[in-house]
Amino acid sequence: MKKMEIIAVKSGKGGCDKTTATINLAAADAVLFNKKVLIIDTDGRGHTTSMFCDDIKYQVGDVLLGRAAAEEAIVHTKWENIDCIGCGEEINEDMKELEKNIFMDPMHRFGKVLQEISKRGIYDRCYIDCNQDPDLMAVNILLIADRILIPARSDDYSLEGIHKMLEWIQQVSSSRESKLQYQVMITDKERNVESDDSVNKMKQLLGDRLCESIIRHQAKAVQHSYKPEIRTPFVLAKKRAGVADDYICLVKELYQYE
Ligand SMILES: Nc1ncnc2c1ncn2[C@@H]1O[C@H](COP(=O)(O)OP(=O)(O)OP(=O)(O)O)[C@@H](O)[C@H]1O
Ligand SMILES: [Mg+2]
Repeated sequence: MKKMEIIAVKSGKGGCDKTTATINLAAADAVLFNKKVLIIDTDGRGHTTSMFCDDIKYQVGDVLLGRAAAEEAIVHTKWENIDCIGCGEEINEDMKELEKNIFMDPMHRFGKVLQEISKRGIYDRCYIDCNQDPDLMAVNILLIADRILIPARSDDYSLEGIHKMLEWIQQVSSSRESKLQYQVMITDKERNVESDDSVNKMKQLLGDRLCESIIRHQAKAVQHSYKPEIRTPFVLAKKRAGVADDYICLVKELYQYE
């Protein structure tokens, strides 16, 4: 039976392209490289959800609190290989409720749900779009993920976000059975002295945990995030922009595809 690899896209900083990366890495992996993918949105603003789902009856919080089975919350999208569990603003209240419900084992709740999904042997990978906070959701995810992808822009604020993530990873490591892998991906390499300086600091800190593939900054990425009528990840657009090619290179690097 295939094991579902769990990849969380998380950073200690907001607005560093986590959602864009989740959507496009998952979509490329599923459609261009034929992997069966489950995407889970955990951000109450639901940007990833609105890319993939029309209506959602149940969201991830309903599954965590046992109001719905995972199968009831999974939406089969118009792409054969992509399923999605959505998220809505109720998630904040749901997490507060989970925190209080000690008999539900709040820190391992997400892990239990994912183990049940994995047992069904349907999915090759599960991609989780995360927020930037060190909250209960983050603990759940850091305890169960196989690897964390940390998107970062090429500036020193992002370096701070990376430091935070490394600290959190370190803190959960003793509570995990297996080692948590992580990689950092740069999502906006600008060509100037300051950004080169930041990238060099990242290289020193991370060594080969810094991905070689770098995502360029391009207007196409922004259009796909604010125009609701474009509900296709840009890696799957008919006419591929440079930023889409970069994401495809990154997927090849991450999973060593030919
Ligand atoms: N390669 C890119 N080129 C240009 N703009 C980009 C690129 N990637 C993402 N963006 C834009 O940057 C903004 C932030 O991206 P995104 O929402 O993916 O970040 P995030 O880390 O998920 O943010 P948050 O912390 O709010 O969840 C969006 O407007 C998005 O369209
Ligand atoms: Mg986001």
